[in-house]
Amino acid sequence: MKKVLFIASESVPFIKTGGLADVVGSLPKSFDKNEIDCRVIIPKYKCMKEKFIGDLEYITHFYMDLAWRTQYVGVFKTVYDGVTIYFIDNEYYFSGDKPYGDICYDIEKFAFFSRAALSILPVVDFRPDIIHCHDWQTGLVPVYLKDSFAQGSFYQGIKSIMTIHNLKFQGVWDAKTVRDIAGLSDYYMTPDKLGFYQDANLLKGGIAYADVVTTVSDTYAKEIQTEFYGEKLDGLMRARSNSLYGIVNGIDYDEYNPETDKYITKNYNVDTFRKDKKVNKRQLQQDLGLEVDDKKFMIGIVSRLTDQKGFDLIAYIMDELCQEDVQIVVLGTGEEKYENMFRHFDWKYGNKVSAHIYYSEEMSHRIYASCDAFLMPSLFEPCGLSQLMSLRYGTVPIVRETGGLRDTVEPYNEYESKGTGFSFANYNAHEMLNTIRYAMHVYYNKKREWNKIVDRGMMTDFSWTTSAKRYEEIYRNLLGW
Ligand code: ADP
Ligand code: GLC
Repeated sequence: MKKVLFIASESVPFIKTGGLADVVGSLPKSFDKNEIDCRVIIPKYKCMKEKFIGDLEYITHFYMDLAWRTQYVGVFKTVYDGVTIYFIDNEYYFSGDKPYGDICYDIEKFAFFSRAALSILPVVDFRPDIIHCHDWQTGLVPVYLKDSFAQGSFYQGIKSIMTIHNLKFQGVWDAKTVRDIAGLSDYYMTPDKLGFYQDANLLKGGIAYADVVTTVSDTYAKEIQTEFYGEKLDGLMRARSNSLYGIVNGIDYDEYNPETDKYITKNYNVDTFRKDKKVNKRQLQQDLGLEVDDKKFMIGIVSRLTDQKGFDLIAYIMDELCQEDVQIVVLGTGEEKYENMFRHFDWKYGNKVSAHIYYSEEMSHRIYASCDAFLMPSLFEPCGLSQLMSLRYGTVPIVRETGGLRDTVEPYNEYESKGTGFSFANYNAHEMLNTIRYAMHVYYNKKREWNKIVDRGMMTDFSWTTSAKRYEEIYRNLLGW
């Protein structure tokens, strides 16, 4: 039995701001339990769902030295879906009303978290063979492992993996402050380690020091070696290309299952969607005050509202799109300019656009289940889970061919009757609009073809089965086992 430890800043069902939480919450339980004991460490945020906080078991606490400070580390634990999860408690760092805030403060918070996560291991008596780190918040873990923790026999030989879920976020601050906060010497601040122009970069440290680096799709693994997608780390990505792997994410097929989903009006599956899926649409139309007509082409968007997701393209053609025979339902929060943009169009085209500027799991499931198409024209997309959820619910994705969107949505080919969605190549608003119009044409005029696209999408397997095996293979190679 090999032991693997995930360290991450979020995980479902406890705390989630994006797809990272879905992955951390669903991949560990997908490993072969006879071969791998995979546990998880996340912070114990005060803003976690209350029902979970009450259920956590207090294990112990101690004080940890970090640079010039001595800090409280509380350890809590729970077992969820068969996976052991440890929570690091520290009220000073984890009391905010959301997990992330000001970047300088976040850097201090996650430097503390990274060190605390390593420090609790002897205390909870779990010595992992591999520590699997996720995103910049845990970038210091591979660094600490080779630095101050290298002396202790407990930690010797532990391998580390850094998974990049989004290269855009790196945890960058001025080198002197990071050095002081993280308790690292100048030795680490050179350009081959954390040094990043005048600053220090936590993710860069993780990438430089981890034994293996992975990212969440094959295409993104290639893209980040180019200047456009490389976020100023393309050189390092190229340098590490021999130990860089792209493994596409899966989704939790129990959680996202139209056949059993408790949030939706009418359950359905690949055999019954023709008749039952539209029951969800009608109910949603009614609840949102849209015209109740199950023949209307309904487009869904569920997303963080950031420029990553292509909202500039949508803003550009929204008036034109609203002249068409469509309904658009949006669920998201994020940058104010996009929140206001959707509020504006909701006001302007009240009978066609319904914008929901908040976070709601229930509403997201209802949108995945009710809409005909799902729009995700990302500027870049490491993997993307929303399009996978859409496919699972028979909602046809319309995407830009980038990163994981390119790897998971097969463009419709009318001559060969192939494909699971619609896609376009360039970051161009009218290319997107034309693609939406093409989808709409197939929907309204070739319904049988449309239903076959839905069929193929629902039959594609994006559960974790295949990708969990690929991670297992990496673990195996790393340990020579
Ligand atoms: P990212 O991680 O870049 O935000 P993903 O597509 O990988 O993008 O994952 C997004 C996840 O967050 C999906 O599970 C999606 O359903 C969910 N999500 C995004 N915005 C909201 C929202 N406002 N309410 C509920 N769920 C949301
Ligand atoms: C990031 C990416 C998204 C990916 C998710 C989970 O948030 O933006 O594309 O699906 O991480 O890996």
